[in-house]
Amino acid sequence: MKIAVLRETADAEPRVAATPESIKKLIGLGASVAVEAGAGAGANISDAAYGDAGAMVGTRAAILADADLILAVQGPAAADLPGAKAGTMLAAILSPFADRARIDGYAKAGITAMAMEFMPRITRAQSMDVLSSQSNLAGYKAVIDAAEAYGRAFPMMMTAAGTISAARVFVMGVGVAGLQAIATARRLGALVSATDVRSATREQIESLGAKAIFVEEVKGIEGEGSGGYATEMSDEYKAAQAALVSSHIAKQDIVITTALIPGRPAPRLISDAQLASMRPGSVIVDLAVESGGNVEGSKVGEIAVVHGVRIIGHKNAAGRLAADASALYSRNLFNFINAFWDKEAKTVAFTPDDEIVKGVKLTEGGAVVHERLIAA
Ligand code: NAI
Repeated sequence: MKIAVLRETADAEPRVAATPESIKKLIGLGASVAVEAGAGAGANISDAAYGDAGAMVGTRAAILADADLILAVQGPAAADLPGAKAGTMLAAILSPFADRARIDGYAKAGITAMAMEFMPRITRAQSMDVLSSQSNLAGYKAVIDAAEAYGRAFPMMMTAAGTISAARVFVMGVGVAGLQAIATARRLGALVSATDVRSATREQIESLGAKAIFVEEVKGIEGEGSGGYATEMSDEYKAAQAALVSSHIAKQDIVITTALIPGRPAPRLISDAQLASMRPGSVIVDLAVESGGNVEGSKVGEIAVVHGVRIIGHKNAAGRLAADASALYSRNLFNFINAFWDKEAKTVAFTPDDEIVKGVKLTEGGAVVHERLIAA
């Protein structure tokens, strides 16, 4: 079983899909591993370190020759996989809704493509969940980025020259990223509040020592859809949420938005009028910027200044902590492979009727096979 690890070529992608640690573990299973030269540069991993871990390091064509399984962070185009034979498997973040043509390209090339972001949210798959591992780091980094851009301190400080008041941080969307943002802002000494459409998050917010801000007046709401994800809310709810946010946001110094709805554009949570009500010098980090943005006026890859409020819209938030993001992503991939490893045959056997395999497999045998893509 030969596993090939690609060097990422996408813009602003410093992560890598395998580290020396994960490669040692793959070799320990009985696989051989080949890494494209320069693959680890963005995460401070040298080719020599991959070589020391037991990997062959070479050109893309050399590592793809006879490869059975290709590992990447972002899905490359099929045309960029020279020499990959029909039946080769690819495990990466494939963003099928953003670029359907690329998925059709895998089918045409006979590649079995597996989208790691489609990992089902079941207990058994938690250690393979790339969205969780990357969102956790993104939530942390969002607070650090906000603190860096904010011209004031986070904690309350009582000094001989007088008192500095604590920063007020509001987290909108309390999934994996939001929970880590709350925890990080609390550790820095901020006064933290948070909101979500899923009522289950109220207890989580409070257990982290933050204040829960929830729409109470709309009866019968519950924003939890399938798999722990949020659903689109009613117009009545959206209006109530906007009113609640308007009164709260004007008093905030930092806002971190993380709200996503699977398969849809990110919900708009902050309007231009609400931005105008904030104090100049306030900072917003829009972690949903690449999915359409939670904040009016946020721009992908830019820091926009609107009504004196800085709106940070960095791309690839997890990639801004490339070494940790790569280490966690690599472990997710190793756990995925290990769960389906056939010890006798020393190869991976992705059981076709397994819930995890069905959840992630997009293409096989020349066709698109995933139900969400066939329906789309
Ligand atoms: P996500 O990244 O899809 O969304 C972020 C947050 O935004 C969610 O909490 C969502 O409810 C919230 N949101 C959506 N629309 C909103 C709106 N209009 N206003 C305010 N908030 C809004 O979510 P993520 O981080 O993927 O987590 C979702 C859930 O899945 C969590 O409960 C998490 O614990 C669970 N989970 C379970 C796993 C497993 O069992 N294997 C693995 C990872 C997460």
